[in-house]
Amino acid sequence: MRDLYQTADWKSEKHVPVIEVQGSPKKGELVSVKVSVGKEIPHPNTAEHHIAWIEVYFLPEGEKFPYALGRFEFQAHGESIQGPDTSSVYSEPSVTIHFTTEKSGVLYASSYCNIHGLWSSSAEISI
Ligand SMILES: [Fe+2]
Repeated sequence: MRDLYQTADWKSEKHVPVIEVQGSPKKGELVSVKVSVGKEIPHPNTAEHHIAWIEVYFLPEGEKFPYALGRFEFQAHGESIQGPDTSSVYSEPSVTIHFTTEKSGVLYASSYCNIHGLWSSSAEISI
């Protein structure tokens, strides 16, 4: 499993999901987290080469099993009845999620590029 996911600094590798926690999370209050791919170096977004989905997990401090917060599919990549890259409609690999927690913990995000596979990153949340 170790080799299934790749990771790197998102500032130098365009596939790595960027996790941005908004504000200062508080116990039991909504935590807003933006997860995107390509913040520093845009990833291609074409019918042939695109980010297909992002998944986000949260592992509360002291717990063994992570919780899946969501899976987000990006399904428009320029295709139309005229062929690939003809519609001008492209979904961006960016999503903002909201959740609550009573505990601090670690957010994990994974992203899937249709030709470069799985990438991951993590970010701590301090409550
Ligand atoms: Fe890629």
